[in-house]
Amino acid sequence: GWTVRYLYLFQGFWCNPHRIQPIYTFQKQFQAKDSDVIVATYPKSGTTWLKALTFAVVNRHNFPSSENHPLLTSNPHHLVPFFETSIYGEMIHDQIPDLSNVIERRIFGTHVPFPSLAKSIKDNSKCKIIYLCRNPFDNFVSLWMFVNKVKLESAPTLMLEEAFEMHCNGTTRYGPFWNHILGYWKESIARPEKVLFLKYEDLKDDVNFYVKRVGEFLGCPFTHEEESSGVIEDIVQLCSFEKMKELEVNKCGTFTRDVGNKHFFRKGEVGDWVNYLSPSMVEKLCKIIEEKFRGSGLSFRMCS
Ligand code: PPS
Repeated sequence: GWTVRYLYLFQGFWCNPHRIQPIYTFQKQFQAKDSDVIVATYPKSGTTWLKALTFAVVNRHNFPSSENHPLLTSNPHHLVPFFETSIYGEMIHDQIPDLSNVIERRIFGTHVPFPSLAKSIKDNSKCKIIYLCRNPFDNFVSLWMFVNKVKLESAPTLMLEEAFEMHCNGTTRYGPFWNHILGYWKESIARPEKVLFLKYEDLKDDVNFYVKRVGEFLGCPFTHEEESSGVIEDIVQLCSFEKMKELEVNKCGTFTRDVGNKHFFRKGEVGDWVNYLSPSMVEKLCKIIEEKFRGSGLSFRMCS
């Protein structure tokens, strides 16, 4: 089930107790290949979107037209499984899944902070990591709404004020959010060929540019011919919020027992937080962001 109030401090981040064993197994067992792609995010930063885009970019030669594309019939979280849930968390008969036969290039998702990734991802392979962050205002509202939508009916509603306190204290799943973001940010500066650091707001601004960027980063740049024949536009269209939200699989299918695919698509905008946060909340979160990110060179765009 879903735990938001009872979290363990594990390897320096707050973790749902059910996820500790899967993360250990992931750290011990996962053998990265040089061609692997890891999509990493703090929850509710645009994971679903980035998974879809990355899948579409990497597999564009296998699915040259948007017709019959797997993204039309599968939720991105099924095409790009999370290590800590789908792969090492939902193990059938306690069997560690055999990933060696998965067709390359393999793409995986994770919410695990950088220091807690498997060593083979961080150091022993040339696999690539794409990180997506989102401004901590929209990120908070998105998470708070999601938690209340997927909670068991019997569980009490998580009130805005309580959720906000947790966000500000850093006691959220995979949090504190600032450590999560800064961990990948620093790595992307130290090793730009290893970690591509993206922002949700930038993608909203000019997703075509970042689709190209992802292709370059992964060593499969778009050719002039592809560019002029509209391949990038097709990918952008296929992965757009409006398109994905209306797909039958995303309206009716389920991710896990508690979570319907529809819960991954809410509003998909920059700046929706203005409808929820009070002036004093805004002031408090601004101060925290200023303090935690000072000197990092990282800033966030809050409004559309
Ligand atoms: S999760 O559970 O961590 O995987 O959720 P995640 O996908 O990171 O976050 C969900 C928010 O992303 C929005 N979303 C999208 N935005 C733009 N384009 C596409 N295709 C897209 N798909 C999902 C989704 O609506 C959530 O944001 P909010 O602000 O709640 O709408």
